[in-house]
Amino acid sequence: MITDIGSLVTNNPDLGAGPLGLLTDAALVLDGGTVAWVGPAAAAPAADQRVDAEGRAVIPGFVDSHSHLVFAGDRTAEFNARMSGRPYTAGGIRSTVVATRLADDDTLSANLTTYLTEMLRQGTTTVETKSGYGLTVEEEARALRIAAAHTDEVTYLGAHVVAPEYADDPAGYVDLVTGPMLDACAPHARWVDVFCEQGAFDGDQARAILTAGAARGLIPRVHANQLTAGPGVQLAVELGAASADHCTHLTDADVAALADGSTVATLLPGCEFSTRAVYPDARRLLDAGVTVALSTDCNPGSSFTSSMPFCVAVAVREMGMTPDEALWSATAGGAEALRRTDVGRLTPGSAADVVLLEAPSHVHLAYRPGVPLVRDVWQRGVRVPA
Ligand code: NIG
Ligand code: FE
Repeated sequence: MITDIGSLVTNNPDLGAGPLGLLTDAALVLDGGTVAWVGPAAAAPAADQRVDAEGRAVIPGFVDSHSHLVFAGDRTAEFNARMSGRPYTAGGIRSTVVATRLADDDTLSANLTTYLTEMLRQGTTTVETKSGYGLTVEEEARALRIAAAHTDEVTYLGAHVVAPEYADDPAGYVDLVTGPMLDACAPHARWVDVFCEQGAFDGDQARAILTAGAARGLIPRVHANQLTAGPGVQLAVELGAASADHCTHLTDADVAALADGSTVATLLPGCEFSTRAVYPDARRLLDAGVTVALSTDCNPGSSFTSSMPFCVAVAVREMGMTPDEALWSATAGGAEALRRTDVGRLTPGSAADVVLLEAPSHVHLAYRPGVPLVRDVWQRGVRVPA
């Protein structure tokens, strides 16, 4: 049991105040990997073990629903060039493809473990991650196998960019992605994704890739409207994708489509931070009634951060979100983007994914940016070593 919790975010409005279901002077009883009881500390049942939160805040573990963690090398030089004025383009992905193909399985697995460990220490207890730096049948399947050894939320992104071998034959590459590559990858993945953008895949190509993936049981999600206001968002909504990710350049029709549909808009503040680009307008989406998630997009090119607290702080400062909205989007919102009801909340029966903050309230995540406020983490009921 965790008791004497000064402020507890449950994300269950039936349990406490507002959309966060906020409780004060609360206790939380964990039983194995699940939450057994939530309520006022004074009414808590007896428990074998007690952790005294001494008035600190407790929140659900963050749900990072968008990352690219199976890769080798980094792109420090590209970042440096950007900070001297060079723009971000999809083309940089190919340099990570070269490094990733050269790396052996153990190296890729060790890199993935490093980033997942960083995430866990910063309070992230559920992570989605993708292929997309292999771009051959064997390399994409290898990336997904390695990812699947670490998380259930695995996404086939053979359509990240056109492979260098197909530079003169993009239609041939789409045939590969929707044919033999999909055959090799579908058994290892839950989701299918495509980078729908100038310099990557257009609307027709994206539709073909997502439809082929869906026919094999993969659920679509889309890299949409990151660099330009293209067709990605509307395609995502039309195909019933779980999430349209980035949503940086949106027309009014895009916002209306998201508001009318069931697709979550996943915003990735680390990306605009690291590419020195204009941030997505979360306020516009929230005011239109769109469900918004926040994620890191952790990858070596556009957003090399593994920190959800950092993303929360930037979303509040730069994207018009309140601290409450950003916290919800980084937990329950991420869960919705992954169509999960067992994570992103602390309510009886949900996963015992718990973060104890070195702060009296979750608001401090935005109020004290850059400060390591994650004091303790439990993942599926297991306390993570400091
Ligand atoms: O989500 N936009 C496409 N993919 C990644 C970037 C990948 C890279 O630059 O290596 C993203 O930002
Ligand atoms: Fe991404």
